[in-house]
Amino acid sequence: MSKGFDKKKVIITGASSGIGRELALIYGKAGHDLAITSRRKKVLEELSKEIRSFGAGGKVIIASLDVSESEDNFKVLPKLAKDLGGVDLFIANAGISTNSSFGVKSFEADKKVIDTNLIGLMAGISSLQSVFRAQKKGQIVGISSVASFRGLPGSASYSTSKAAVSTYLEALRGEVRKFGVKVTVIHPGFIDTPINQKLKTRPFLVSAEKGAKKIYDRIESGVRSATVPWFPWALIGVLMRSVPEFLWEKIEPR
Ligand SMILES: NC(=O)c1ccc[n+]([C@@H]2O[C@H](COP(=O)([O-])OP(=O)(O)OC[C@H]3O[C@@H](n4cnc5c(N)ncnc54)[C@H](OP(=O)(O)O)[C@@H]3O)[C@@H](O)[C@H]2O)c1
Repeated sequence: MSKGFDKKKVIITGASSGIGRELALIYGKAGHDLAITSRRKKVLEELSKEIRSFGAGGKVIIASLDVSESEDNFKVLPKLAKDLGGVDLFIANAGISTNSSFGVKSFEADKKVIDTNLIGLMAGISSLQSVFRAQKKGQIVGISSVASFRGLPGSASYSTSKAAVSTYLEALRGEVRKFGVKVTVIHPGFIDTPINQKLKTRPFLVSAEKGAKKIYDRIESGVRSATVPWFPWALIGVLMRSVPEFLWEKIEPR
């Protein structure tokens, strides 16, 4: 740990796999104090051992949390913030997706996507409201998606959840500014994690390690909003938003 190191207290949801796991490894290796959560506590125990093995000296607290059970966020997250002695960075990362089409999709699967990706994120942030207000500092990060840019045929509930996440965070930014709190929204393209490993095509795929490092860089730069990787997804984003509806509706559901 270098002299003058700005040690942060970091809480990450969905840390057992993919992007969340890689971010936990990055922050853990740097010696920050961490609280990592997900539904699978055993996986978190293994991750916590791995982080401790770096010997960087930060705390590693684990907690089982199903973000889709709104009230559980209010029980678990403020306690983690207390155990850490505050929270400088809350990364609302937990998420799921469904890939199915009208006529074959179950309402329950769609609802689970909204309950996890949107309501879970909102509950997590709300549960830490009083901590951030009292501290008068901190950063809230939400992991949205390039799927938020346009309603993707075949991913209706996922696109909806992520568009709402981005909108929610955009509004929140203006509300928390007076408390000295920053909001960062990340829109990843395809990053190689279990969430998309069954898809037939994953254009411009990057590894979880590389994707998370880029996300980390964007978080630490304090940016308001970022597409990751920037190229080509920022340009694709512009295209996605400008394609006329009669062409957009021709996209085949995956
Ligand atoms: N990978 C990509 O290409 C990509 C692109 C755009 C956006 N994203 C977003 O990035 C975030 C992370 O996804 P990932 O790619 O890292 O996928 P992943 O490897 O499948 O990881 C998802 C994480 O979310 C957790 N999770 C799922 N449901 C949960 C629940 N109800 N409560 C608490 N934790 C839950 C999982 O842990 P447990 O199963 O242990 O609970 C896991 O740790 C998601 O929000 C996803 O939408 C990913």
